[in-house]
Amino acid sequence: MNRTDFQSRLLSWYDQNKREMPWRDCGDPYKIWLSEIMLQQTRVNQATPYFERFVSTFPTVHDLAAADQQEVLKVWEGLGYYSRARNLHAASKLVVDKFDGKVPDNWDEINELKGVGPYTASAVLSIAFQKKHAVVDGNVIRVLSRYYGIEDNVRSTKTKNAIQDYADELISDDRPGDFNQAVMELGATVCTPSNPDCEECPIQEDCVAYKTVRTDEIPYKSKK
Ligand code: ADE
Repeated sequence: MNRTDFQSRLLSWYDQNKREMPWRDCGDPYKIWLSEIMLQQTRVNQATPYFERFVSTFPTVHDLAAADQQEVLKVWEGLGYYSRARNLHAASKLVVDKFDGKVPDNWDEINELKGVGPYTASAVLSIAFQKKHAVVDGNVIRVLSRYYGIEDNVRSTKTKNAIQDYADELISDDRPGDFNQAVMELGATVCTPSNPDCEECPIQEDCVAYKTVRTDEIPYKSKK
């Protein structure tokens, strides 16, 4: 199928099947940024109560920037990877001091924030600001490597770059943030690592791994 078919199938599937999440469709760049930091190492169901507690304690980036580090770490307690909380706190001060309390809406400035790398930058720019930056995380790697039948080791930089190129090519012009979330959602709920539910998949008919019965072999990961 061509890229517009891929986009329209995926987006209609997403519109009908997306899970409710407190940061979804909220339009608040601060909350979207926070959610993406939490979701880097934590699953949606586990992160959700922490997210709720965090935003009721620090409803805006100004509240976060004005807080003590100890207070921030206390609200993060239990989520693990505490450098995420320390970086987020430091970054909130930069947002307030340098960017007038607004999360940057462009690549160079958002990458100045501690804890923001290419994944988070692309997620926030696309979801909060409708900028065309394709995300590549573990879910996206699984969906696209199966769809294109990529058998190379997905731990290698070369393979990840190839998958980034496919994602850049496929991403929707009108709804880049929903497109990114749709691929991640498909990977989290349908195109799962084991026993994927291919009968529910909106792009099944052109999925190479499905057609060749290789969802067990793709994505291929070398031993670390
Ligand atoms: N994983 C990371 N970010 C996500 C998002 N916005 N939606 C679904 N899964 C995600």
